[in-house]
Amino acid sequence: MPEVFKNFINGEWVPSKTGAAFNDINPADKSEIVGVFPKSGAEDINMAVDAAASALDKWRKTPAPARAEIIYKAEKLLRKKKDDIAKIATSEMGKILDETKGDVQEGIDTAFYMAGEGRRLFGDTTPSELKNKFCMSIRMPVGVVGLICPWNFPVAIPSWKIFPALICGNTVVLKPASDAPASSMELVQILQEAGMPMGVVNLVHGTGEEAGMALVNHPKVNLISFTGSAEVGRKIGELCGKNLKRCSLELGGKNAQIVMDDANIDLAVDGALWGAFGTTGQRCTATSRLIVHKEVLNEFTEKFVQRAKKIRIGNGLSTNTDMGPVINESQLKKIHSYVEVGKKEGAKLLMGGYFYEEGDCKKGFFYMPTIFTDGHPSMCIAQEEIFGPVALIMPVNSFEEAIEVINSTNYGLSSSVYTKDINRTFKAISDIQAGITYINSPTIGAETHLPFGGMKNSGNGHREAGKEVLNIFSEWKAVYIDYSKRLQKAQIDTAKEH
Ligand code: UN1
Repeated sequence: MPEVFKNFINGEWVPSKTGAAFNDINPADKSEIVGVFPKSGAEDINMAVDAAASALDKWRKTPAPARAEIIYKAEKLLRKKKDDIAKIATSEMGKILDETKGDVQEGIDTAFYMAGEGRRLFGDTTPSELKNKFCMSIRMPVGVVGLICPWNFPVAIPSWKIFPALICGNTVVLKPASDAPASSMELVQILQEAGMPMGVVNLVHGTGEEAGMALVNHPKVNLISFTGSAEVGRKIGELCGKNLKRCSLELGGKNAQIVMDDANIDLAVDGALWGAFGTTGQRCTATSRLIVHKEVLNEFTEKFVQRAKKIRIGNGLSTNTDMGPVINESQLKKIHSYVEVGKKEGAKLLMGGYFYEEGDCKKGFFYMPTIFTDGHPSMCIAQEEIFGPVALIMPVNSFEEAIEVINSTNYGLSSSVYTKDINRTFKAISDIQAGITYINSPTIGAETHLPFGGMKNSGNGHREAGKEVLNIFSEWKAVYIDYSKRLQKAQIDTAKEH
């Protein structure tokens, strides 16, 4: 019998008020149920928000270095449990074990980095325009924050949000993806074990439509931080906007790798394989377009296809697997329908384009690595996020054309350029409209101490990770301390003195 899990509200594991439940399924073998989780509703969200609101005052008054001590403990526990949590993550969302270990490591790195912020959380001091007056800016917590997370980085992304939220003095309600709830549960369990006070971190499982929307619409939630599709992000942004609720959106991408005529082609092929088929193409930073100079098109294409054919598809828990399943049936169908669209639009299919059902793979949601060529910016498969192992090669005649093509989508998350030319390198850095640009490495692989996020429809202007994430989870207060013992008027007295 699969294990039945609960929500975590006000320091206790409690069943959902709805009594409804959903199965967390292994996408590599749909007959395997990883766990049964509560399908929570508005009442569960209300309880969690109330708990977070009650815990807020004490938590925000706890000195940040003391808050950090708990995060340091959580970091140690995460490190200890890294391999176990990675196995759970692979079982529920499919990517290979090496990658889920990397996912947990990203959580560890974030915890460590953010705990360090406990002794920084810097503001500024600056001179006043008046005599005997002191000016500074300090960070204030936002309040109760609602975190809505995707399934593709089931430890790293909740960590990107939870640790900075906590270090800034907010209390949290986490709604993990219903396709990967077990990994988040592990994370919350670790925070509990590390000594997080009651009500500071609450976990409510359920669907985006029900639990997620209840969180977005709750009047006592001061901030929503969401990672997911642009479509859902737009809806959340609208709802938050109506209530002037703070809102940070980390959305999709249509990321591209440029391969110039002077590139190291073998290196570019290595990068393209990892960027396009790592995590089965299910990263918001995944490489879905390859913009290749015509001079090297044949060599690149041949090598890329040849290597992609060698990718071993299977259960991510096996050490012989290079690429795991896609997350669920509806995503599998969506990927395939994009492939059909691509064919109709005139893109040339070089390999893949079908459900992979060899051996045990028929038990799960597997798709063959798929490569199209002859791509053009006017095609739907060159514009829309597919979120699967599908790469489109787009031939170009020049560097200028490559830059035009890379910027020809509404997204602007990650980008990459393979070249040995220093002038092109800097031109690319300055002209590509994306939040991340890699030179001679693929579009995936962001590190936690740099800002992460995108331009255009890839977000709403915020950046997670790095020190910039603190600007999501805190608000600035400007402070003026007048020790002149008289009324001094800014702008007015200042002018008179001159
Ligand atoms: C995501 O794609 O959803 O840069 C997050 C990367 C990872 C994070 C990706 N460190 O690919």
